[in-house]
Amino acid sequence: MSDRTFGIVKPDAVKAGATGDILAMAEKAGLKIIGARMIHMKKEDAEGFYHVHADKGFFGELTAFMSEGPVLVFVMEGANAIKTWRDTLGATNPAEAAEGTIRKKFGTNIERNAAHGSDAPETAAFEIGYFFNGLQLFSR
Ligand code: CDP
Ligand code: MG
Repeated sequence: MSDRTFGIVKPDAVKAGATGDILAMAEKAGLKIIGARMIHMKKEDAEGFYHVHADKGFFGELTAFMSEGPVLVFVMEGANAIKTWRDTLGATNPAEAAEGTIRKKFGTNIERNAAHGSDAPETAAFEIGYFFNGLQLFSR
């Protein structure tokens, strides 16, 4: 069954020039990119995006990091897209991420871990809708 997931090339990876490599890894994993654009979030934009983590100790630093520079937000579609993209990302902490994963290759530490991926259908729907409307997505 084909489903959708949401990704972000985070500020660290954009700055490092890894945007193209990360998108290529999505496509090599069999995911179709159906929408993408570059944005620079304000801190409150990042706070809204990560609202589920508002009570965590890392929330302030995380939202400062996510708003420190431009990011690429993008939407993918494919069979088991959510799991496929999470597997391609690797573990949250790059030190624990498997060889060949995005976070192993491009992540620096548990915060600056290069890229984001939705973790469930409900969060994917919220995250896609936070940045894209239907006319900006090109299913095919
Ligand atoms: O991104 P993922 O779903 O793998 O992890 P999360 O637990 O939903 O956390 C969201 C983001 O917060 C992570 O990707 C990290 O950038 C950051 N984080 C952090 O700075 N410190 C932690 N202890 C855990 C997460
Ligand atoms: Mg998460």
